[in-house]
Amino acid sequence: MCGIVGYVGPATPSARPLDVTMEGLSRLEYRGYDSAGVALVTPEGLVSAKRAGKLSNLREALEATPLPPATAAIGHTRWATHGAPTDVNAHPHLSEDGRLAVIHNGIIENYGILKEGLLAEQVVFTSETDTEVVAHLLQRAHARSGDLTEAMLEVTGRLEGAFTLLAVHADVPGTVVAARRDSPLVIGLGEGENFLGSDVAAFVSHTSEALEMGQDQVVTITADEVRVVDAAGRPAEARRFTVDWDANAAVKGGYPTFMDKEIHDQPMAVADTLRGRLDRDGRLVLDEMRISEAVLRSVDKIVVVACGTAAYAGHVAKYAIEHWCRIPVEVELAHEFRYRDPVVSEKTLVVAISQSGETMDTIMAIRHAREQGAKVLAIVNTFGSTIARESDAVLYTHAGPEVAVASTKAFLAQVTACYLLGLYLSELRGNKYVDEVADYLEELGKLPEKIQHILDEQEEHVREVARSMAEATSVLFLGRHVGYPVAMEGALKLKELAYIHAEGFAAGELKHGPIALIEPGQPVFVVVPTPRRHTLHSKVVSNIQEVRARGARTLVIAEEGDEDVTAHADVVFRVPRTPTLMMPLVTVVPLQIFASELAAAKGLDVDQPRNLAKSVTVE
Ligand code: F6R
Repeated sequence: MCGIVGYVGPATPSARPLDVTMEGLSRLEYRGYDSAGVALVTPEGLVSAKRAGKLSNLREALEATPLPPATAAIGHTRWATHGAPTDVNAHPHLSEDGRLAVIHNGIIENYGILKEGLLAEQVVFTSETDTEVVAHLLQRAHARSGDLTEAMLEVTGRLEGAFTLLAVHADVPGTVVAARRDSPLVIGLGEGENFLGSDVAAFVSHTSEALEMGQDQVVTITADEVRVVDAAGRPAEARRFTVDWDANAAVKGGYPTFMDKEIHDQPMAVADTLRGRLDRDGRLVLDEMRISEAVLRSVDKIVVVACGTAAYAGHVAKYAIEHWCRIPVEVELAHEFRYRDPVVSEKTLVVAISQSGETMDTIMAIRHAREQGAKVLAIVNTFGSTIARESDAVLYTHAGPEVAVASTKAFLAQVTACYLLGLYLSELRGNKYVDEVADYLEELGKLPEKIQHILDEQEEHVREVARSMAEATSVLFLGRHVGYPVAMEGALKLKELAYIHAEGFAAGELKHGPIALIEPGQPVFVVVPTPRRHTLHSKVVSNIQEVRARGARTLVIAEEGDEDVTAHADVVFRVPRTPTLMMPLVTVVPLQIFASELAAAKGLDVDQPRNLAKSVTVE
């Protein structure tokens, strides 16, 4: 899940390759921040610098010891897999003669055997990484053929596992060679300059024209040329696309953290995900559909596969799709699905939800599902990502780049996309709610304004309460129906950002055990459904009373005008009146703000919490 950048541009102004690479790395730092490094091809030879820790450490090192002007550069931000996050394990890794440098994202599964072979040839290893074998193998292959592209083809042919690899060589000025297998790499096309990146955020401020590399392709970029070949070295096509992300969307826009910015992006993320979904006949459309209508009509089960926050979006989808379409929906963590021999057939529609589109657990799950004959529909945020490419249909969440490690706007966009999918299937299959699709769409269209209303009216109140709870050591979250996944998401946000013990429960489950946790002063958030669903509402109000009677401090998220909760709540956060199934789009917002503010109040890094990375590209 590391971040990778490559750049070749005009030799003058001479400092540009390093500047462009460092800028790209700063945009990709969310992918991993255990260490960072760069390698440059300069007229004097290959030079490199790397430091454990965040990119700022590398920046300081470069200011203290500037590198000479370069013709090509590669850069890396690391999320450690093999070897501790130290200076020596940071990328780039150099060949023994110091003339070749390589950076890598992924895992070389057969590196042990390859290393044994190299050790037998007396190669001296300096790091504990799986990547270093590639540097030594490339040096040898290059010495034989004198051609870096050929060397890359030869070496990648011997590798097992997942990788994006970028290499530069002192003898090949103005050139970067790269390869990918099961790991992302996109090419940015400039005028007299070309770019490589783990995703388009690496170069979107320079160009919006890009190529999506296929599996096992190798690309050689110079300032004027991009040459893509397949694994056999034959010229190959890479798919061209135009990036529609605004470069400014990838910077903080005046907010103290990316997470705060992304919380405020949410009205737009939902609106953009809903945009342009009706065709001329008023029928719902997805982005890419390679599943026939006949197959979709015959689907007898939906299995949602996803991880973390995306899985909670899947839980919301279950309530909506089962209600609207009368198709049973199972929600399964992708890593559990893959290894438990799930019951999947040609009549199963697997829905993969992923912000990054690169989560390895989810990729493996969809591959397994397709092997069993199931069709896969992806709900992803990242254009051209592996999950989008490997699925039979795609519904993009147009949330724009999400940089903060903790997901916010992607979750709201995923939930929105799940509603669209439910309504689409309901319309296609002629379910009983088919006549109400237009009404539901109209209700969905009102959500961006409602989310904005919460930001305008409740944000300060939530932040104040969060600051007053900076000393809390445990917080519980309760919800029923669609409020249950919201409770779990609220707990996940608090765990990952504020490092506080937090758990989300189905409110009805309380009396079956968790209520034993309640002691005087225990903070308990309760997500309350609309009073218009009387039975559901009154059950949750009873649950608030049950925990309060045992001394809990109750923080209640309730609809405006719901006065039944007032007497039982220590704190109330209000959300606008919203149809029950769509309530997650409003009730989760105070919980996101709460987690972000509490983490900030504890002096923690809100955008880059410890031990985490944005995109989990290893199993
Ligand atoms: C939590 C969070 C993670 C991701 C999960 C899946 O805030 O962001 O739980 O939701 O790692 O990632 P994607 O959606 O990229 O597949």
